[in-house]
Amino acid sequence: MQTRAVYPGSFDPVTNGHIDLIERSAALFDKVVVAILRNADKTPLFTVEERVEMLELATRHLENVTVTSFTGLLVDYATRIEASVIIRGIRAISDYEYELQMALMNRRLSSTIETVFMLPAEAYSYLSSKLIKEIAQLGGSIDGLVPEDVRKRLAGKFKQK
Ligand code: PNS
Repeated sequence: MQTRAVYPGSFDPVTNGHIDLIERSAALFDKVVVAILRNADKTPLFTVEERVEMLELATRHLENVTVTSFTGLLVDYATRIEASVIIRGIRAISDYEYELQMALMNRRLSSTIETVFMLPAEAYSYLSSKLIKEIAQLGGSIDGLVPEDVRKRLAGKFKQK
């Protein structure tokens, strides 16, 4: 049986920590669908289309990975694309409480979909999209923390402002 996994998130923007997790997932599951939430409540730095482009470029070496976006409940989307696994990354214990809450709620909503928690490489355990944006905006170096394409796009965004 082929196992399809969905890796949901905001990815605003994708970091090397996300890429590390996608590579690990691609080695474990037959197909990995990276799914960007289209969230009307948040004001993201990058549009969903820009985020799809950045993720597609960063994962083009992985044949069993696709990038999409979704709206509505994650479990409904997972059911629609026949994914039986939700992948979430846990960096530190501080992530755990929120992740546990979401995983248990998702299990309540759909008992057939399992959440699998994965750990990124230690080198990325302190990395977040939020910090990346802050450092880029304030002119600090984010070399080696995001793909080169993302670094350039961030520089472009903050130059415009
Ligand atoms: O990277 P993020 O922002 O922490 O990802 C959060 C995400 C997209 C996984 C979560 O907000 C989500 O699944 N949203 C879709 C709506 C939904 O299903 N909500 C109930 C979650 S229990």
